[in-house]
Amino acid sequence: MGLKSSFGIILVPFLFLFFIDASHGLPPKLFDVRNYGAIADGKTYNTEAFLKAWNDACAHQGRSRFYIAPGTFLLESVSFEGPCKGSITFLLKGTLKAPTEKSKFSTDTWIGFRYLDDLTVKGGGYLDGQGKFAWPYNDCSKNSYCGPLPVSMRFDFVNNSRIHHLKSIDSKNTHFSIFACSNMNISKVRITAPEDSPNTDGLRIGYSRKIKISDSVIGTGDDCISMLYGSQDIDIDDVSCGPGHGISVGSLGRSHEDQYVSRISVKNSSFVGTQNGLRIKTWSPSLYSLASDMNFEYISMTNVRNPIVIDQQYCPFPPCSSWGHSTSSAVQIKNVKFRNIWGTSNSEVAVNLKCSGLIPCQNIELRDINLVYNGPGGRATSLCSNVKGSAYGKQQPLPCF
Ligand SMILES: *[C@@H]1O[C@H](CO)[C@@H](O)[C@H](O)[C@H]1NC(C)=O
Ligand SMILES: *[C@@H]1O[C@H](CO)[C@@H](O)[C@H](O)[C@H]1NC(C)=O
Ligand SMILES: *[C@@H]1O[C@H](CO)[C@@H](O)[C@H](O)[C@H]1NC(C)=O
Repeated sequence: MGLKSSFGIILVPFLFLFFIDASHGLPPKLFDVRNYGAIADGKTYNTEAFLKAWNDACAHQGRSRFYIAPGTFLLESVSFEGPCKGSITFLLKGTLKAPTEKSKFSTDTWIGFRYLDDLTVKGGGYLDGQGKFAWPYNDCSKNSYCGPLPVSMRFDFVNNSRIHHLKSIDSKNTHFSIFACSNMNISKVRITAPEDSPNTDGLRIGYSRKIKISDSVIGTGDDCISMLYGSQDIDIDDVSCGPGHGISVGSLGRSHEDQYVSRISVKNSSFVGTQNGLRIKTWSPSLYSLASDMNFEYISMTNVRNPIVIDQQYCPFPPCSSWGHSTSSAVQIKNVKFRNIWGTSNSEVAVNLKCSGLIPCQNIELRDINLVYNGPGGRATSLCSNVKGSAYGKQQPLPCF
């Protein structure tokens, strides 16, 4: 009796402490790349040092902090792979600088993270993709070199993770690619590249679920955010886009047709000087697929060339009808709501809904739209083909259905 009660009193607090320490009580173990030989002089390649530090961090039982101090670290193409023994924070205080020699960037990834769970990438530092050395090679018709250009940071098969307080400048290709990931929160990311830089998508998402992007600023040469096949439960909130090609779903329908796109939300965001605002794009012709349940609301447009676009006749390299079985897109687009969208359009057609003649768009809603044309007359118009939809509240331009 006495023994039992004193165990009760003495052991319980000790067990409690033990469990706290094992999970979150201990500070994370620090893995400083400089302790592995990395030199922040902007000209020494540090790839080997980074990989050694990563291997130790990944093997550590418990929380690890992979630390990159202030300073400029030159880094070749590198892949940080799991699975790891515990959670890892990739703390970037300094700048990672990409190679400028062609021989070192003939690859599709600059910095890759793969097969990881509970990863955090943060720190306020920079990814400097040195894109201007690669953009001239982004033209297969004019160059003998026509291989891949590296995406600045790629996440493949990464779950339950966070990316925040990170800046990416001048990527050679896409800035951030998210593929086969689930449950990721991305916030306070700043992305910049020149308006005319080729294929520099801000964030490119495919085959991923539960991705939240918030409080971020994206100005780049291609889509600010693009969502490809298998993007589901994507929540975009408080993003400002411009310059760039807007926030896009697609292009869909040319492969992975069984990977539907659904439950996409874009809200409280703004577009300034972009080529498109909100766009859903499918190939024509295409395989059968589905894109549904998308909400776009509280969006401001300033000098946007095409604020609202559904384009099911996407065919950048004609003739396209020789491909596939039909001459129209077979991607069903349905349950799409555009609500509270206001501002200025740089072209007269502010709302352009070109759906498929084979499978018309279903249940498209326009509610409280107020878009004016910047040009003579100021009156914007809308165009529809093959759309079944409804309109509510204020409508400027007048709806086309
Ligand atoms: C990520 O989640 C998927 C689906 O739940 C699972 O199959 C995969 O093994 C997970 N990957 C990692 C690295 O934890
Ligand atoms: C992402 O944020 C939501 C709250 O908005 C939170 O519930 C969720 O746990 C977060 N996920 C990760 C991986 O941190
Ligand atoms: C929209 O974003 C602004 C900041 O940009 C914030 O103050 C406001 O609360 C947000 N509104 C909604 C409805 O989320």
